[in-house]
Amino acid sequence: MPRSIRPAPGNLLYAQSGGPTAVINATAAAVIQAARRARGKIGKVYAARNGILGALREDLVDTGALSDAEVRAIGHTPGAAFGSCRFKLKGIEDSRAQYERLVAVFRAHDIRWFLYNGGNDSADTSNKISRISAELGFPIHCIGVPKTVDNDLVVTDTCPGFGSVAKFTAVSMREAALDVRSMAESSTKVFVMEVMGRHAGWIAAAAGLAGRKPDEAPHLILFPEIPFDEARFLAAVKATVERVGWCAVAVSEGLKTADGRFLAEAGGKDAFGHVQLGGVGPQIAQLVTARLGYKNHWSVADYLQRSARHVASKTDAEQAAAVGKAAVEYAVAGMNAVMPVIRRRANAPYRWTIEPAALADIANHEKKMPADFIREDGYGITPAARRYLAPLIQGEAFPPWGPDGLPAYATPRFKAVRKRLPGYAIADR
Ligand code: F6P
Repeated sequence: MPRSIRPAPGNLLYAQSGGPTAVINATAAAVIQAARRARGKIGKVYAARNGILGALREDLVDTGALSDAEVRAIGHTPGAAFGSCRFKLKGIEDSRAQYERLVAVFRAHDIRWFLYNGGNDSADTSNKISRISAELGFPIHCIGVPKTVDNDLVVTDTCPGFGSVAKFTAVSMREAALDVRSMAESSTKVFVMEVMGRHAGWIAAAAGLAGRKPDEAPHLILFPEIPFDEARFLAAVKATVERVGWCAVAVSEGLKTADGRFLAEAGGKDAFGHVQLGGVGPQIAQLVTARLGYKNHWSVADYLQRSARHVASKTDAEQAAAVGKAAVEYAVAGMNAVMPVIRRRANAPYRWTIEPAALADIANHEKKMPADFIREDGYGITPAARRYLAPLIQGEAFPPWGPDGLPAYATPRFKAVRKRLPGYAIADR
């Protein structure tokens, strides 16, 4: 008789949430690979389509149908391979039906672990599911897996996804600056590049890595942490053009007026209640031309910056994979309501480790740029910021390139898991 194999004590569900990063799928691949290695301890590894929405709709895929090569290829592909969402679960008092539905889905598919890959809103969702599923009699072990280009999660030293957007931003600023410099004598004098980051200026700060010496681009960085002072800014642009011949500006989408309003609200709000940002770059550029008469060019990096896998940071890709692997290890070890976070052990050479932190300490908090990372005049980064940022963009993790001269990205067809429950319409969106 064959040796009896103890049945795995349940299945694992992985889902992605919020804005994708260049390396979120490195985390996804690492989760799948680590769970495969934990065979016998974890049963099937499911992924929900479009984050928690797929869990509510019972729209699950079986990652077991993917070959090892397909998993590896997903790992170097940008976007969120399984689809993402912006959807916030409220408390049990407002959304009892949604929690009951989630528990019904988890129960129907024997899901015992939920790994939610996202930012601080997703940490909040994982934390709530962990607590409320226990209250509803089907306790789920929830692990939040960090990800956000905004780099605004507390406790962790950095957020997977940030190192790559930082590298893209610094590379783009260095390259575009050479272009402006060559045109400045008779044409363009000012270049403005808008980057993401919402309320936190980490991505804008990363543009500062492009220049090493005084008067190298970017000459001015506009942080969301520093209220915009129009007259002072215009004077700084004029002084830079007169001194250097041209001026490169990096501006964060979250730049605010002195009374706390965003300069550029694009209009809508998402399901988390976040205002959609975008457009401050052209606004600033037009202001410069209208008031100082300089010809400008501007760019809004927008989705290009968070999908730029071709110029991803190797350090970032490694950290993204490491948190995925650790999340599975924590799940197997019986941990609950925690997140694997990155702890910096040394700056030079950069050394880091992964350790668990309580989701309750991370959910709904936001880490902004500390004051000692912003230059005294408010328009640049300090040596301390440079020491923090520089290791995060180290190394290149190029994807393979195809015969068409483009990165060979993978969007495999997923095998749907057969539904066992009646359909469910998601109200309250
Ligand atoms: O949360 C990350 C982020 O990239 C922010 O920097 C940006 O403001 C936002 O997402 C844009 O989100 P969406 O794609 O939902 O409009």
